[in-house]
Amino acid sequence: MKRIGMILLTAMTILSLGACAGGNEPAGNGTNAESSQNSAVQPKASEESETPEGSKILVAYFSATNNTEGVAQKLADGLGADLYEITPEQPYTDEDLDYGNSGSRSSVEMDDPSSRPGISGSVENMEQYDVVFIGYPIWWGEAPRIMSTFIESYDFSGKTLVAFCTSASSGFGSSDSALRSAASGAEWLSGHRFSAGVDSDEVMEWANGLGIN
Ligand SMILES: Cc1cc2nc3c(=O)[nH]c(=O)nc-3n(C[C@H](O)[C@H](O)[C@H](O)COP(=O)(O)O)c2cc1C
Repeated sequence: MKRIGMILLTAMTILSLGACAGGNEPAGNGTNAESSQNSAVQPKASEESETPEGSKILVAYFSATNNTEGVAQKLADGLGADLYEITPEQPYTDEDLDYGNSGSRSSVEMDDPSSRPGISGSVENMEQYDVVFIGYPIWWGEAPRIMSTFIESYDFSGKTLVAFCTSASSGFGSSDSALRSAASGAEWLSGHRFSAGVDSDEVMEWANGLGIN
């Protein structure tokens, strides 16, 4: 009887171990499934954490009659960028802007490639920006000389620069060529000309196509 009892006990123990193993299997599979799901998720999560943070962007602009300012504001709003107005030490009056007069301040400045009109104030901590948009009105097919003052005031090496402009009718052309030469250590993207009344959608369609954010 004792022997039979031992045999029964052994058989029950084996059966109960089998049941435990069987009972654990789905849970085990579940755990494995979860862990394999986790291992499928984790690389994605780590990929995400390895994704570089969005570029820090500055939109810097000069605007004598507010057309370029409107574009700059739309750009900065759309990109979540900081906005900086390049303010002349000596503001431009209507007389200064009279391009019909060869003796006006703007005509004289544009006739002299070495002219560097002064800027009031400066960008705080330019180092923090990866991308700088540079906006200006076309003056005689070029960027106003004050834009050269701006470009020569900072070290843009290693940054991405992209110019935009407004004009009455001229295209972008090579209006940024003097600026490119002055900041040759930067990566310059193709610039773009906007008309004064451009809407945000058009501005952002261009900006989003640059592949910078
Ligand atoms: C001195 C001066 C020169 C200009 N030269 C041109 C030009 O060559 N081509 C053009 O299409 N518009 C020219 N314009 C018009 C401006 O580019 C245009 O009005 C621009 O949108 C003004 O921008 P702002 O309001 O930001 O200053 C000139 C304007 C001024 C004041």
